[in-house]
Parts: sequence; structure tokens; C-alpha cells
Amino acid sequence: MSSEISGRLNDKKKIEELKKKIERLKEEKNAVILAHNYQSLDVQSVADFKGDSLELAVAASKTEANIIVFCGVDFMAETAAVVNPDKKVLIPCKEARCPMASQLTPEMVRDAKNSGHPFVAYVNTLASVKAEADVCCTSANAPKIAKKFATKGKCFLGPDANLAAFASRVSGVNVEPVPSHGYCYVHKMFQVEDVERARKTYPEAEVMVHPECDVEVQLKADFVGSTSQMYRHAAESDSELFVVGTEVGLVERMNAEIEGKTFVPLRKAVCIEMKLNTLERVYLALKEEKNVVRVEESLAERARKAIEVMFGV
Ligand code: 13P
Ligand code: SF4
Repeated sequence: MSSEISGRLNDKKKIEELKKKIERLKEEKNAVILAHNYQSLDVQSVADFKGDSLELAVAASKTEANIIVFCGVDFMAETAAVVNPDKKVLIPCKEARCPMASQLTPEMVRDAKNSGHPFVAYVNTLASVKAEADVCCTSANAPKIAKKFATKGKCFLGPDANLAAFASRVSGVNVEPVPSHGYCYVHKMFQVEDVERARKTYPEAEVMVHPECDVEVQLKADFVGSTSQMYRHAAESDSELFVVGTEVGLVERMNAEIEGKTFVPLRKAVCIEMKLNTLERVYLALKEEKNVVRVEESLAERARKAIEVMFGV
């Protein structure tokens, strides 16, 4: 047997052992693992629940487990801690921070609100920003939230300017982005030319993209939605081939789970921060109960309000 093959077999064995150990620890500690659609398939395989930001926030608010291991980025784990303050929330890697979340500050929210219009904070923000906002939104409900909360036909939304444009287009209200050019580096990778190339290579395919993609890319797609909305759309559609404009974790999940359909990435886009959560780190976080996500209660209380207003819509 070549050393390469025996190396691969050893890796596979190690992964299977880690999975078993994680399952045992979950049972012993009454822990639950929540994983975002962008996690690797190995991490997804130990999850009790997989989903988009909205689904994971709802799942975190409802769980009766003592410990939540949140396999996602900082703002997601923080949201879990805010909506379920009695639980211990752990993040496998403390450095898994969404770079877009830091593009909006509490001061920017306060300044915008001085104009009298409400502020919709994308859930991809830290608790200190949510605490200043009137309501939160995710990519799954941004148009609905904008329409419901706009006053005199206007509201603010940040930090993602492409999501603000999407919410504006679908809802018909003026959704002003704050900051004016907030963006996700992963979704910025997708270009109009990628869609044009995909149309030529796969003329029978449906093109689905995330609303964090540039507006020009959104306009060329057949479907625009959150990660789980894309998943459901694909599962229900008559098409058998899809080209997908979002992080590759979702593409891998759909290829693994949706039988009889094929998913091709519009471009291989990887969120480096999401991928910092490895199986080994999930195991260590749970074993040592380390990387506890803490949000000071007076701040959590204010952030919780904005999240609960969203839950109520
Ligand atoms: P979803 O809520 O659609 O899963 O998106 C989260 C995210 O971080 C997109 O980049
Ligand atoms: Fe943040 Fe973009 Fe990564 Fe989503 S894909 S977590 S928005 S950097």
C-alpha cells in the first residue's frame, strides 16, 4: 500500500474516531451542535441541526440542551447566547469572526437614526450594534422586515449594501445602506461574467445566488435567497442541475443530501472564517467547555429586543 493511501486511510479513521467521541460527549453533557450551511461536511455530520442564520437563531432560542456548540461565525454564536442566556454557548474557534460584521458600528446606527427613520440591523452584526437597532433581519426575511418597519417609505439597513438593495427591490420601500458600500468578501467574488459563462456551459441549469452578491449578479440569476431558501427551492424545483452563487459549504451540502440533482459552484468561493471550525476544534471545545461566548446582560437585553421583534414578524 502506498504511503499516500495509508495516510488517507489514517485520516479517515481519525475523523471517524473524532465523530464518535463528539457523539459521546454530546450525550454525556446534554449538548447540542448547531451548524451553519457553510460548515464543512465533516462538521455538518455531527450537527443536530443545520441551517441558515434565521433557522439557527430560532433553533438556539428553543433548545433545552445545557450546552450549545455553535459551528458558525462570531455574530451567530453571539445571537445564540443572547436569545438563550441560560445556556452555555461554545464556539469551536474563537477566531471565526465575520469580517463584514465589523463594518457597522453602534455610532453609525445612532447617527442614521437621528434622521427619524428606523434601523434594520442585518443579523451579521455584533450585539453592540443590534442593541442600537429597531429590529434585526437575515437574508431570509430582509424585504419583509423592511416593508413592515419603514416609516414614510424609508428605513436603513446595514452593513451589507447588496442585501439592502435586494430588500429595496423586493419590498418597494427605500432601504438606505449603512455604510454605503458594506460588503461580504466571499460574495463579492461572483461576477456577471461568471453567470454568463455558466449560462453557456450549462444552458439547462437554474442559477441561484445569495442576496449578498452584487446587484448585477442578482439580476442575472433565476433565484435569489438565503442559504436555506436556496436549499428548499432546489429540492422543490423540477430542474436537475443548479449553478450556485454562494459559499461552497452549501453546494457540498446540497450535493450530499438532495438526491438526483447536481449542484455546481458559480465560482469556488470559500469563507475562510467559517472554515476555521474543524471537527478537532468542535471536539476540544466540547470536551474542555472552552471558548464560551459571553454577552454582558445589559447589552444582551437590548440586543435581544431587536432579535425578538424580528422573530415576531
Ligand atoms: P444565510 O443567513 O443566508 O445562511 O447567510 C449567512 C451568511 O453569512 C451569508 O454570507
Ligand atoms: Fe461573513 Fe461573508 Fe463569511 Fe457570511 S460568507 S460569514 S457574510 S464573510
